[in-house]
Amino acid sequence: MTAKTSAARYVALIPAAGSGLRMGAGMPKQYAPLAGRPLIEHAVHRLCAHPRIEQVFVVLAPGDTQFNRCDWQGCEAKLSALYCGGETRAASVFNGLLAANDALDANDWVLVHDAARPCLDATDIDRLIAEIGDSEVGGLLAVPVADTLKRANAAQEAVQTEGRDHLWRAQTPQMFRYRVLIEALRRADIAAVTDESSAVEQMGAKPRLVQGSAANFKITYPEDLVLAELILARTSQSAGK
Ligand code: CTP
Ligand code: MG
Repeated sequence: MTAKTSAARYVALIPAAGSGLRMGAGMPKQYAPLAGRPLIEHAVHRLCAHPRIEQVFVVLAPGDTQFNRCDWQGCEAKLSALYCGGETRAASVFNGLLAANDALDANDWVLVHDAARPCLDATDIDRLIAEIGDSEVGGLLAVPVADTLKRANAAQEAVQTEGRDHLWRAQTPQMFRYRVLIEALRRADIAAVTDESSAVEQMGAKPRLVQGSAANFKITYPEDLVLAELILARTSQSAGK
């Protein structure tokens, strides 16, 4: 791995090695049907279609047999499957970064995006790249907290109203230099890391929060599929206008 002075490249890394326990679909949720295709196809196709993204790595469970049965037409030139998923999301990301090492330079930007966020819009990727493409560290899409926040006691009663100033909900993609991300995850307690940004924050760096869209939410529970279908139907309608 060598630091290059040439323009950094943008690559995507999609962790897709989870089992989707909260979804309870009887299969890993990345293969649950959404708007006529497996959930994972949405995020992968969107990232492959983006002109600034040169390569898309997908991190899969070692025993995954479903990925190859999906429709990857049009993605062939950019897409690579890495069968090295780990116990946690962070372990999957770390393993994927190690497996992709030969294809990446230290200064390349890696956009880590959940397979379970199918409604990512090209304009969100554009904004992320525009706002942090010249920073040293990186940043992430996020949305300011809009709801009033309650602190509960053990009996699920509201005991305090928390201020929401300066609070954001983290999304993906989270975009960091390859060398920064791999170093952060190497140093972190991987079992305690919930997103890439938290590992980078632990090193004392300050990832930039880039305004995202609420539509780029993560599919976690079955009812989330209904909302995602509505959003996808609306965006494909307006694209067809
Ligand atoms: N993920 C992964 N490796 C893991 C766990 C999660 O690559 N060991 C991926 C998931 O496939 C998903 C993303 O990380 O694309 C976000 O994780 P989450 O929404 O928590 O998915 P699951 O872990 O599959 O779901 P659950 O927590 O309900 O079991
Ligand atoms: Mg999980």
